[in-house]
Formats: sequence, C-alpha cells, structure tokens
Amino acid sequence: VFRALPIALRHPCHFCIRPSPTIAKHLIGKWPNPVISRTSSNGVCSTIIPEVQVFNEKHGLNIQSYKDLHDFSLRDPALFWGTLAKSRLDWYREFDQVMNCDFTKGKIAWFQGGQLNVTVNCVDRHKDRTPDKIALIWEKDEPNMHETLTYKELYELMNQFANVLKNHGVLKGDRVCIYMPVSPLSVAAMLACARIGAVHSVVFAGFSAEALGSRIRAASSEVVITTDQGVRGGKIIDLKKTVDAAVASCPTVKKVFVTQRTGAEVPMGELDIPVEAELAGQPTECNPEIMDSEDMLFMLYTSGSTGQPKGLVHTQAGYLLYAGFTHQTVFDYQKDDIFACVADIGWITGHSYVVYGPLFNGATTVLFESIPTYPDPGRYWEMVERLKVNQLYCAPTAIRLLLKSGEKHVNKYDRSSLKTIGSVGEPLNHEAWEWYYNVVGQKRCTLVDTWWQTETGGILISPRPSEPFGELRLGPMRALPGIELVLMHDMDKEMKGNDAYGALCVRTPWPGIARTVYGDHQRYIDTYFKTYPGLYFSGDGAHRDHYGYYLITGRMDDVINVSGHRLGTAEVEDAMDEHPAVAETAVVGFPHDIKGEGVYAYVTLKDDIEGEPEEQIMEELKELVRQQIASYAVPEMIQVAPGLPKTRSGKIMRRILRKIAANEHEDLGDITTLAEPNVVEAIVKNHDVIM
Ligand code: PRX
Repeated sequence: VFRALPIALRHPCHFCIRPSPTIAKHLIGKWPNPVISRTSSNGVCSTIIPEVQVFNEKHGLNIQSYKDLHDFSLRDPALFWGTLAKSRLDWYREFDQVMNCDFTKGKIAWFQGGQLNVTVNCVDRHKDRTPDKIALIWEKDEPNMHETLTYKELYELMNQFANVLKNHGVLKGDRVCIYMPVSPLSVAAMLACARIGAVHSVVFAGFSAEALGSRIRAASSEVVITTDQGVRGGKIIDLKKTVDAAVASCPTVKKVFVTQRTGAEVPMGELDIPVEAELAGQPTECNPEIMDSEDMLFMLYTSGSTGQPKGLVHTQAGYLLYAGFTHQTVFDYQKDDIFACVADIGWITGHSYVVYGPLFNGATTVLFESIPTYPDPGRYWEMVERLKVNQLYCAPTAIRLLLKSGEKHVNKYDRSSLKTIGSVGEPLNHEAWEWYYNVVGQKRCTLVDTWWQTETGGILISPRPSEPFGELRLGPMRALPGIELVLMHDMDKEMKGNDAYGALCVRTPWPGIARTVYGDHQRYIDTYFKTYPGLYFSGDGAHRDHYGYYLITGRMDDVINVSGHRLGTAEVEDAMDEHPAVAETAVVGFPHDIKGEGVYAYVTLKDDIEGEPEEQIMEELKELVRQQIASYAVPEMIQVAPGLPKTRSGKIMRRILRKIAANEHEDLGDITTLAEPNVVEAIVKNHDVIM
C-alpha cells in the first residue's frame, strides 16, 4: 500500500505534528527510522569541498568530518560562504560584504558590492576551457532520439538569442515570460535573458491560458517566448494557441517570440516574431550585462495557501552559488559525469538542477522532454543506458508509477553508469525508497532524498555530502552546510534534542533563499517570517528522529502536492466557485497511490438551480479548473455535500474533510464544536456511497 505521507501523517492542527504511532508504523514500516543501508562513502569533506583545505590551512581550523564542517559553517557563515563565493564564482568586481541579512525584517542580501554575469559563470568560462564538451543532451520525446550541444554551440545560441531580444528592445530588468517545453532553445532563452540582465519568468507549459495570462499580468511582462507546439508522450500540445488566448487578456504584451518544435503551421499575428528566422543572421557574440549581486535573475510563480500564486524572486550571485554548490556536493558530481534531472524547466527543480547548477559546474546536463512511461515504463532506464547517465534525479510520483510495472522494465537495461539517484518534491515512502535503492540502484548507488522548495533556491536537507561511513536512512536526513534547522512547537517553543516533531524552520540565512515576492514584499514577510519571528518558516512539518535525522511529515497549510506539483486548495476553490450553480466549495488533498496526493472537492450547490443534472455540473467544474489552472489540478473526486462542516465562527473545518476524504471516518475527533454537527454525518454517508 503506497499511502502518501503528507496527508496521512498530517497533524490535526497547525501545532500538533506528531502522527499517531500506529499511522507512523503503518506508513514508514519501521519507526523510529532505522539505517536502511550503507553505501560506500562519498569521501571526506575536503575531497568534495576543496575549500576545506583553505579553512584548515589558512584559518587554523581542523575540519575532519561533515559535523566539523557543519558546525563551522554555522559559527562563521560569512567566512564559509565568502570563501566559496570567491573560489567558485567569476566576478567583474569582488563583493564588499558577504551577508547582510535580518530574518525579522525579511531583509536578505548576499555578496553586496559584487558584480558578475551568471551566464559568464555558466557558459563562457566552460566554452573557453572546454569548448567541445557537451553541455546539453536533449532527450527528445521521440524514443531513442537525442541531440547534443557543446559549450561552444550553447554559447553561440545563447548570444544569438540575446541579440534577438536586444534588437527588439528588451532591456535589463524587463520581465520576459517563457512558456516553452524543455529544449536547448528554452535553455538558451533563459540564458539569453540572464545575458542581457532581463528577468525570466518561466511558466510551466502545462498551465492553462488563464493561469499563464495572470502570471504575465502580475509580472507586467511585455515579452513572451513560446513554441509552436510541444510534444509529450507522443501527444501534441498547442502551446502557441494557449499563448494567443492568454495574450488576448494581457495588454502589456508587445512581442511574442515563437520558436519551432513541430514546425506546424500556427497562425502568426502582429505581435508574433518567428525566432529561427531572426536567429539565423545574428552575431554569435553578445556582451554580457554587468549585474550587481542582488539584481533580479528570475521570478517563478508558486502556490501558497491563500490567494493567487506568488512570484518568488531569486537574485544573481547567491542563487547561483547555492545552486552550483548543492548540485556538486549533494549529487557528488564529478567532472565528465552525465547529469540527468528529468524535471521540467517550468519548476524550480528545472531552474536549479537542469540549468543553473549543472552549467555552473561545467556539467553535461540532460534535458528530458518526455514522460516516464513513453513509449513504455522502461524509458528512464533505456535513457540511462544510452546516455550513460551518472546521476538521475526524479520525483517520487514517477518512482511509484514505475514500480507498479515491475522490475523487468528496469533490468532490461544496463544501469552500471549510475552512481547517485535522487528524489525530490514529496516524501519518498518506504516502499518507493526500497525499490529505487534496491532495484534501480542495485543496492550500490547512493540514494539522495532531497528536501527543498521554490523559496529555498536549492536543496537544504539531504543525506549528502557524506560522513565517511556513508549510511543512508529513509528521509532527507540532515541539513547541508550553512543550514541550521529548527523545529518549532506552538508559537515560541523550540523543540530541542532528538525524537522531536515541529514546524520546520531555518535559523540561518543562506545565499539561495528567495529575496521577495514580486511586487509584494509584505506578503513575503507575512508568509515566511511572521509565524516564528527570526526564523524562516517553510510551511512543512518535520520529525527529527532518534538519531537526529529529519523526516518530512508534510505541509502544515492548505497547500497540497499532486505528483510533486504544488497546488493551493484556494486556487482550485476559486476556479470552481465561478460556476453559477455552486454555493460553496472546500478542497482538500487525499492519499493517492501514485500521485502522493489527489484533489478532493466538496461542493454545495445553490438551492434554486433546476434542470441541470449534477453529473453535468461536475464535468463543468472539472473543465473550469482545467481552464483556469491546469490539468493536474482537476479534482479526482467531487462530492456534492448538503453543507460544509464549520465552526460557530464560520471557519470550514478542513481537518474533518481531510479525514473523510482519506476514509478515516472513525477518527474525526471532536465535532461537537461545529455549528451543525449533522452535516458531518451526511457527508460521511454520501462519501461511502460514492466510494
Ligand atoms: O512540502 C514540501 C515538498 O514540496 C514542497 C515544495 O514544493 P516546490 O516549491 O514546488 O518545490 C518542489 C521541488 C523543490 C515542500 O514544501 N517537498 C519537497 N521535497 C520533499 C518534499 N516533501 C518531502 N520530502 C522531500 N524530499
């Protein structure tokens, strides 16, 4: 039974995080969390983090182990990060101050006074040293088809694209919306923006026209870059058509750049510019814009528990250092490795571990355009064999899906190139962990379950870099250097010691953290720094086990995680509330075998609607969500309810609705404080009928 952790371990209230021991045992298999396996060591710190030698020799330290390094990084973050920033980044002007941060005020600045260009660090310096090294391998949707680009070719394409943008008036600081599938051209588009100092805002190319339009408007983007059509799992997706529909409601947009993927005839209007034709004549040089460390690099929208998605802003130097550092250390990336993160560029994982982290380290990075089951569930493993992938980074939802098809699809292919296998986005449950480790990784690869968020810019918790003995346990395990985790209970009680549960917070600022919510700094402060003053609050709950290792227990707010896609329940409710027959809605997550969580909607209908059959209304509601957000947000279950359980002050008791959706009726807790306790009985009855 692959029950998802987030819902089932979800605490009944904001501040009571501990799951019942029965639930914990059932889900995790064993509790507390035992050592699952031991792999060979990744080496001691100084071989993974060469700066350790500098700390020891120049600063009189004696760092011998991961613990020594971690302790030092918290004791002297300025020396730790400052040394790394000097040794790893190429600067036009070196910074004056390493960090200038105050979480209580939501103020974060790193490497001020420094000037650099991100693309010089990601492309130029590798083009100069290793021009013929492959930078990108585009694993196309069509099986057995890949194309490669060397660093020199990427350099030229990026510069040509940058020149196209410049010729059309795109300036430093402009927000450019990118709505494209993963491909060398979309990577070049992101880099072209960074080259000229424009700010990219990549919108996942599965979002609807409405969702795209609202993101374009929120960023006041004047330029959109898109593709004629996308291809995923053999299916054609009309991207340009979606952009046309979105742009119709975005008066700010002045230009739409259209690249080709299928070459299909797409209607080209007044705003549209065919990219390939423009690229052809462009010079392959474009002077990099000199950027300040804290200038914006990109914004990326993500869901929160309330209101519209927020555009999180990441800046130049700190983000790049953090993405590069974590890519190298967590995955134990070695020069000449082939690194495959199969995420889409529309998510932070694609930004940090498909594009910026690997390119910063001069890696060969795979751009995966397809889906894990096309043409069959052997797709990843066939790719691993053909491309000789050394590190594979994917999502638990894919692992759960693939393990259902059995081992034969895996064992057919040679996976001896694999060294590290990683997971991100949701809890990796016990069964999935074991299958990934035993079957895919043949009990010899290091498995890194990594925890992080759009807000954090890069991985904060992971089993690596390793202690020499190299043990692996279920869960993301422990904080990376420079990260001090805190578990909070109630408003002000810090849970010290092991065997503790609490709201997962971070005490120390780190260079990769998002700097603001675009256009709404107060929302940034309120969301992340208000609940526990002086700390960054992640929104997740966590358990620090008997040995001091971390397990994530799930979101503490009304955000759900569908196949690793973050979704605010309020967004889905807003979409459904638009239906004229709907009086009220409440959306919760429920445990889903493959997706981790599915969307479950409770809907009350207006009394005076007549004639329209309920099934039709349900279909219309699903369509509304598809149109306003994306297909992945469409509720799996819609239950018509006579009313919603509310407190006397009118607050919907989602805790009860979650339990009902999860079939945990016997454990509804105290419902006597409800305004109308009978509603619960009716909902439970009806739930049993539809299940
Ligand atoms: O709830 C956590 C979950 O994903 C959320 C962040 O989502 P997003 O910003 O879309 O970024 C996803 C990719 C970095 C977190 O608040 N999450 C992420 N990684 C894990 C996880 N939950 C459990 N275990 C993880 N390894």
